[in-house]
Amino acid sequence: MMGAGKVEAVAEDLFRRSFLSDEIVFREGEAGDRAFVIEDGDVEISALSNGKKMVLAQFSAGDLFGEMALVDGKLRSATARALSPTTLIVIRRDQVALKMRGSDPLIKYIFKVLLERLRTTNRLLQSPASVQPRKYNPNDSLVLARDTMISELRLHQALEQALAREELDLHYQAIINIRSARVAGFEALIRWQDPQAPSPLQLIEFAEKTGLIVRIGLWVLRQACATLAAMQQQLRDLGKSGRLFMSINLSAHQITASRAMEQIREVIEASGVDPRTIKLEVTESALMKDPIAAVAFLNRLRAWGVEFAIDDFGTGYSSLSYLHRFPIDVLKIDRSFVNTMTQDSTSSKIVRSVATLARELGLRTVAEGIEGVEELAAIRDLGCEFGQGYHFSQPLPSQEAKKLIGRDFG
Ligand code: C2E
Ligand code: CMP
Ligand code: CA
Ligand code: CA
Repeated sequence: MMGAGKVEAVAEDLFRRSFLSDEIVFREGEAGDRAFVIEDGDVEISALSNGKKMVLAQFSAGDLFGEMALVDGKLRSATARALSPTTLIVIRRDQVALKMRGSDPLIKYIFKVLLERLRTTNRLLQSPASVQPRKYNPNDSLVLARDTMISELRLHQALEQALAREELDLHYQAIINIRSARVAGFEALIRWQDPQAPSPLQLIEFAEKTGLIVRIGLWVLRQACATLAAMQQQLRDLGKSGRLFMSINLSAHQITASRAMEQIREVIEASGVDPRTIKLEVTESALMKDPIAAVAFLNRLRAWGVEFAIDDFGTGYSSLSYLHRFPIDVLKIDRSFVNTMTQDSTSSKIVRSVATLARELGLRTVAEGIEGVEELAAIRDLGCEFGQGYHFSQPLPSQEAKKLIGRDFG
């Protein structure tokens, strides 16, 4: 029984605390790593001003207090005292720290600045003579938050400007039909023509974080469709049969954003290209963010003719159960397996298994990252339909990519 009582006491302290009328919750100047929400009761907040008590606030059910020390790790700025029998819900620092760490640098910075200013104002209230207006002197954690915030703000502006001034560009990497050794299509890959610009992957990650991805994604789609229309015309001019396709990467946001499906459809329609020559590449993790929305998105665009490929297959969830739930057409075997398959038997087995799985499920495969003849030979033996990689071609500007059309890669 005693044991049970002890457990209860610990649990009580972690989640809820009760105070009698007039009891002190904490005192000004103490250390504290908890904030409280009043479930029931009333709390007075006071600070000493020239040795005299000055009431700063009176809080009741639903109000939050003790958040300042919780956030900035400094001492309690005031004393909290229960004015009636009071129950408090406890918020621990670790609960908040995790969320703060993941939050946007600008929001984090605004938050820290507000807190710093409230502390200064409190000191000014408490003893007007002791606080002289002085040059603002941020502490280390504030400087770090400020620097991160400023560099992200600059990047955000630069990216918006690049988008508006058409300084973003697409390169196109050939995707080869392994059997015919001809170009079957291209993958559009974003480029930012600025030596200081981040890598394509960093650029996309940042665009996702800021929500710019929706606009960038539509720009990519528009641009890639226009290039595809020109390439298909070129193929016809050469008197060649067959249809080139364009693979375009989609981010998670582009699947779930409102009107995403309609906007994608409008862009493809306006370009005049046959939707059956568009392949949209999505990763396993993008699909798994909101599987129900993803299935609806895929179904509707697919019914219209667009094909879907799972990108980087084998690196994400690799949950086989989702494969039959998502209506897809192509698996792209991640380059990390293809790159190493000639030296590493595990990679080779993974590539073989994916190729077999795809065949069984009636899906086609693209082997990414083919860099040499040995890999090409191995991929051919496994019966993959398509290959992509530096062995055939790097991603190239559209004018150079067009020169590959009709070329024999055998
Ligand atoms: P991804 O979709 O897997 O694209 C393939 C990446 O592999 C490209 O990197 C390409 O340049 C690189 N690659 C191609 N062949 C080889 C090879 O033989 N060896 C090696 N080592 N690498 C090869 P890139 O262009 O830097 O793009 C990186 C990622 O950025 C892409 O990976 C994709 O996830 C993302 N990305 C690029 N453009 C877009 C875009 O327009 N929209 C979205 N949402 N994501 C994009
Ligand atoms: P903290 O500094 O952790 O502990 C004292 C709490 O009193 C503080 O967090 C705030 O929740 C609250 N507090 C401090 N200053 C004021 C103020 N000027 N007005 C209202 N509440 C305050
Ligand atoms: Ca891709
Ligand atoms: Ca890939």
